Amino acid sequence: MSVQAAVKRKTAPEIRSRKNGEPIVMLTSYHAHTAALVDRYCDVILVGDSLGNVMHGLETTIPVTLDMMILQGRAVMRGSQHALVVVDMPFGSYEASKEQAFHSAVRVLKETHCGAIKLEGGVRMAETIAFLVERGIPVMGHIGLTPQSINTLGSFRAQGREEGSWAPIENDAVAVAQAGAFSVVVEAVAEPLARKITETIDVPTIGIGASAACDGQVLVLEDMLGLSPRAPKFVRRYGNLGPMIEAAIQGYAADVRSRAFPGPEHVYGMKAKA
Ligand code: KIV
Repeated sequence: MSVQAAVKRKTAPEIRSRKNGEPIVMLTSYHAHTAALVDRYCDVILVGDSLGNVMHGLETTIPVTLDMMILQGRAVMRGSQHALVVVDMPFGSYEASKEQAFHSAVRVLKETHCGAIKLEGGVRMAETIAFLVERGIPVMGHIGLTPQSINTLGSFRAQGREEGSWAPIENDAVAVAQAGAFSVVVEAVAEPLARKITETIDVPTIGIGASAACDGQVLVLEDMLGLSPRAPKFVRRYGNLGPMIEAAIQGYAADVRSRAFPGPEHVYGMKAKA
């Protein structure tokens, strides 16, 4: 007897078919509880390796491991039901060879049950992407600013500001799309270039700091909620949770210190002995 999943999740081919259609809504999440909220409104939940910065206070994503990604991927899968969950491949888990990428991606899919993986890099990763896709692993590409290359880039600067620097980024987009990626994250790329890439390739582009010209958008949840101490300049804040959380913690600490903290009798209806 086969067991059917009660709720059908979005799939990579469904996201692929949204090219030139309804914009794709994507946010990051690393935990079950935020995943449940994001799931109500988003087509795709990205378990990004930005969890290294957000959850662990790391300066870069370089130290993030495959085990860290799998642990949070499982949490997000437990918290969500509808969105396609995409798990990032961390630095060092896929670049050495297409075989290494395959083994790492298989671990991610088997141990989290997510629907796709994401990896950074354009032309240099095209052969690997084709290898994975041919073997049943849906891949989301990531071009433009690729944070895992911070040590060779030198800084997290926007890409393609001058027209003269567009060609390698365009070539990356075309290579990733031709290799079979079902969509491509385009990060920190100037609007005219993001538009040109979106018009050129036949899979959806998902922008982050790359203008509304893309087929969809992604943000780091904590950045748009006002919870990150240093969010990128391009992020529009849709909430300011930092001060709200601080005020709540302050109120709790004050209650505890002044012994105004409600005791269990408040819940159980017990009367203190005179
Ligand atoms: O790790 C991440 O959150 C990402 C997004 C910024 C696209 O890759």
